[in-house]
Amino acid sequence: MSASRLSELLLLPASSAANSDLKSERGVSCDGELPAPSEPHLVERATAAKKALGSRAMVLGHHYQRDEVIQFADITGDSFKLAQAAQANTSAEFIFFAGVHFMAESADILTSENQKVILPDLAAGCSMADMATAVQVDDCWNALEKFGVAGKTIPITYMNSSAAIKAFTGKNGGAVCTSSNAERAMNWAFSKGEKVLFLPDQHLGRNTAVLKLGLKLSDCVIWNPWKTNGGLSDSEIQNAKVILWRGHCSVHGRFSMQNIEDMRGRVPGVKILVHPECTHEVVSNADVVGSTEAIIRTIEASEVGSKWAIGTELNLVQRLANTFKDREILFLDKTVCYCSTMNRIDLPHLVWAMESLVEGRLVNQISVEKEVAKHARLALERMLALP
Ligand code: 13P
Ligand code: SF4
Repeated sequence: MSASRLSELLLLPASSAANSDLKSERGVSCDGELPAPSEPHLVERATAAKKALGSRAMVLGHHYQRDEVIQFADITGDSFKLAQAAQANTSAEFIFFAGVHFMAESADILTSENQKVILPDLAAGCSMADMATAVQVDDCWNALEKFGVAGKTIPITYMNSSAAIKAFTGKNGGAVCTSSNAERAMNWAFSKGEKVLFLPDQHLGRNTAVLKLGLKLSDCVIWNPWKTNGGLSDSEIQNAKVILWRGHCSVHGRFSMQNIEDMRGRVPGVKILVHPECTHEVVSNADVVGSTEAIIRTIEASEVGSKWAIGTELNLVQRLANTFKDREILFLDKTVCYCSTMNRIDLPHLVWAMESLVEGRLVNQISVEKEVAKHARLALERMLALP
């Protein structure tokens, strides 16, 4: 996308967008020769490597991936659709995951033992997933046991969590959820227990509990892993219906009420469309809320000429703006806001990983330890089987 097109999307003067270095953050963790981003034959090389691998390999691409990468995806989707795709594919020997680490781990857990999952850059993590470590979650559960509430609490972990947290969830009778089925997962959890421990995204947890299940904000408390007993009193823990882990997405956390007010002031008739990882205030004041897949479907189904300000990662918003030129599609924030870890998967890394495999070298395999995978699979399968 040209600097002036990006500026249109952001409602910024062209010079301001042109000065930002959009491609400065690059992955580093390659044990081989990474092609330079300026290499003029990257597309041809990726095409040739993919052709050489044929049906032995499949590329799964999350909607936040760069255009240069997504063009090579066999299947694109939100976290839920990609988990389903990984489980459904039993034939591809190799799965290149164009997404982040927790998604590749889930694909590895859901595929058979002879299938291998490759993450083209191991530095593609997720800051939200890193906000809940296995030790912290065990400490939390021990405290809930001490307060006598663990037995009536069902853990629900957002897909954006490590395999270890998913395994904890599976072991303790819980399920994974994604942004497209969090409501069903929470309803399912309340059919099994009296309380929900929601990990690690406080915003998705709160938005689901309050805006979908009709609970009160005061039914939710926040567990701060850095404080004794999560910073909560005995009565707060006893009275809470939903215990929200103190985690969030730094990309979606940027969207604010001020953004919404500015946008509505400047663009009459604009509809605000946001991801449920945004804050409760933003989600409560948006016109439409949904997962990345739902955001795409909403724009696809919208009227020609309609105006949308979208609060989610910028690669996806740019792609929608370029695809639906007959609608006015804007980015809700005023400043450039990519997910830096999603962006680590770029064409040089994809080419490097695919060409290595063509040469017989398997690089950057994501392999979840067997015992962890067994329990995590349980939590993932409970999600895939949700009513
Ligand atoms: P989706 O499940 O909506 O694709 O979201 C994944 C994600 O990481 C959003 O930040
Ligand atoms: Fe994680 Fe946020 Fe990036 Fe999604 S957008 S992968 S939640 S940091």
